[in-house]
Amino acid sequence: MQRINVKASTDYEVVIGAGLLDKSGSLIREVCPKATKALIVSDTNVAPLYMDRVKSSLLSEGFAVYESVFEAGEERKNIDSIIAMWAKMAEEGFTRTDMVVALGGGVTGDMAGFAAASFLRGIRVAQLPTSLLAMVDASIGGKTGIDLPQGKNQVGAFHQPSIVIVDTDCLKTLPEETFTEGMGEVIKYAYIMDTDLYGILKNVSDKKNIRDDSMIIEVIIAKCASDKAYVIEIDENDNGLRQTLNFGHTVGHVIERDNNFTLAHGMCVAKGMGIMIRASEKAGRLGCSEAKEMLDLIEAYGLPSDDPITPEEATKGVLNDKKKRGDIISVILVTSIGKSEIVKMTPDEFKTFLKEGKDQ
Ligand code: GLY
Repeated sequence: MQRINVKASTDYEVVIGAGLLDKSGSLIREVCPKATKALIVSDTNVAPLYMDRVKSSLLSEGFAVYESVFEAGEERKNIDSIIAMWAKMAEEGFTRTDMVVALGGGVTGDMAGFAAASFLRGIRVAQLPTSLLAMVDASIGGKTGIDLPQGKNQVGAFHQPSIVIVDTDCLKTLPEETFTEGMGEVIKYAYIMDTDLYGILKNVSDKKNIRDDSMIIEVIIAKCASDKAYVIEIDENDNGLRQTLNFGHTVGHVIERDNNFTLAHGMCVAKGMGIMIRASEKAGRLGCSEAKEMLDLIEAYGLPSDDPITPEEATKGVLNDKKKRGDIISVILVTSIGKSEIVKMTPDEFKTFLKEGKDQ
């Protein structure tokens, strides 16, 4: 079992290991000694697999346990789902010392976190991520929220969890595509800030079957969690360094939305990273052989590295994104493997930058 400390407005630990769902009650009890009620938020894919184990672990620690299960899918990441969670907690008489337990992937973590951030102006939340993507990124750092028809994550709050419990056994039941999309976020850390992680990923001999190697997976998750903890400690509120975690996301989010959320988030991020890598190389901001290495690694892990989106469509979509500040777009570029920078571009500069990358 590995424990990684996150120093934020409230400090907490990311605990990583096999079989931890069965210990979730005692791990949560350690950090939430006064809570008497817990609402487990999960979706219709994850609840049948793990709800009973988490529930009995919490019951054995004396919690009164309630459930809020929503239909799985990004399209449910909306205010109606949050209202159902608020209503359940209000009906059951939750107080400020009670808590929410998020059991699932990124959508579950974001929504459960937002319900906790807003109910009674803020109660505690424990994150129990079950997808690779949520384990390495979404569950850490306190970003919570819901989508609007106009864009992803348009409404939300920063609300740090009290604990993040990563049971690596959960990866065994993940559909192939859901595991693979998580590798998109893993590769992102390597590219923006972690040459050691890059070396590990490059040296894996059977990249397509990496999830069968539980030792390497635990090492990779712990490295990503440490990277994220480092970023959060410096920039919890997303005003600087934290924005580098959005490498590939700026265009990736537009692709995701233009496809009505039918493509997995991590797949869109991989496409977005590929588009930025090609454009950076063409603009002379990234070496040619490094760019090729980076694109090859994305593809070696079964991820796409391009998309038919036009520079015009991408720029229009980005202008709708909440990460834009005024008329300036913050573009995250990797200048060499392990190093990233934030470059401010006008919409026209961004369009030209993408266009040149397309014209190779
Ligand atoms: N997922 C990016 C962040 O937490 O900032």
